[in-house]
Amino acid sequence: MISERVKRVQESGTMRMKELAGQKKAEGKNIISFTVGEPDFDTPKHIVEAAKKALDDGKTRYLDAPGLPELREAVANMEKNDNNVPCDKSNVLITPTKQAIFETILATINEGEEVIMPDPAWVTYEPCVQLAGGKAVPVVTTDEHEFRILPEKVAELITDKTKMILLNSPSNPCGAVSTHEDIKGLADLAKDHDLLVLSDEVYEKIIFDGMKHHSIAAEPGMFDRTITISGFSKTYAMTGWRLGWLVAPKPIFKGINKIQQHSITHAVSFAQYGGLAALTGPKEPVKMMVKEFEERRDLIMKLIKEIPSLHCDKPKGAFYIFPRFDQKMPSEELALLLMDKAEVALTGGSSFGSAGEQHLRISYATNKKNIQEGMGRLKRTLEKI
Ligand SMILES: Cc1ncc(COP(=O)(O)O)c(C=O)c1O
Repeated sequence: MISERVKRVQESGTMRMKELAGQKKAEGKNIISFTVGEPDFDTPKHIVEAAKKALDDGKTRYLDAPGLPELREAVANMEKNDNNVPCDKSNVLITPTKQAIFETILATINEGEEVIMPDPAWVTYEPCVQLAGGKAVPVVTTDEHEFRILPEKVAELITDKTKMILLNSPSNPCGAVSTHEDIKGLADLAKDHDLLVLSDEVYEKIIFDGMKHHSIAAEPGMFDRTITISGFSKTYAMTGWRLGWLVAPKPIFKGINKIQQHSITHAVSFAQYGGLAALTGPKEPVKMMVKEFEERRDLIMKLIKEIPSLHCDKPKGAFYIFPRFDQKMPSEELALLLMDKAEVALTGGSSFGSAGEQHLRISYATNKKNIQEGMGRLKRTLEKI
């Protein structure tokens, strides 16, 4: 009954472990979960109030597919001012972040065309490419280079079928942050080989150690070949709102907008008023959350040093660490064992691609008490495996 297209796609490994952790909790187990990529903070009050007001004011009807004009304008201002992306509101389409990635790939990739993407990478990129009939070509990133996507590695993989390079900085699952040199090198490759770039910047504000986020669309000659994607989920603790955006040059924007019109029509009307408050309102809540993530990153790095079989350098962004482990077993098996014996839920690295094998992904988007307790349990259990 299922299409061949869908049969090609695997279930999400992160969701599987999250569901399993949920089942164990329901059975009464005291599981500490490091699985989900979701801030544990509540959405800041002023954002919630703006959405409530929108509901009270009857902002509950259809909008145009690309979204609320004021919000498109606010996104364009943010992308121009913070990231130097030379856009205006006509380039901005409001849609859930994941949907933005799916729509972009569906609108640009033909059957058999290749998309070069990091390995390990967020679990959803490859299925999007497969559903579009394209082929994902992994560029292996390693801890030797902080899991950054190196232009010279990408260059080796370009063929006459390559259509797009997919970037993600700061990254899930590794917390890798591209340097400006990396971005310039990747931009040169895209221009030399006439390629599109999809740049997933959803963790752009969760960046530490004074690092600066660089949008590839800001590089000379790149705007017309780049689709920049970002959203509210991670920066503003708004995962359930299903709200994000993309910025695309006009011809690509038009193609993507057709898919938006024929699929979700537009993002939820009153949620978009919340998004507007997020971008135009006080920035203190974001500063507070990023500071807290940085402190948690420092705490988890201190604790991991006490576990001899786990190895990991300090990631510079997002809220994940991706340590390599010494135990001689597949990462899925180790993750299941740790769930069982340590009552700690985390994700096996192979869920993020074959280059993720021998690694675990630990999300530290949970409070310091859980981090302390969970890492203690991991230490005690891993010593025995
Ligand atoms: C790298 C990356 N891109 C995009 C998304 C999707 O974000 P959203 O939940 O806002 O659709 C996620 C969510 O985990 C992610 O990790």
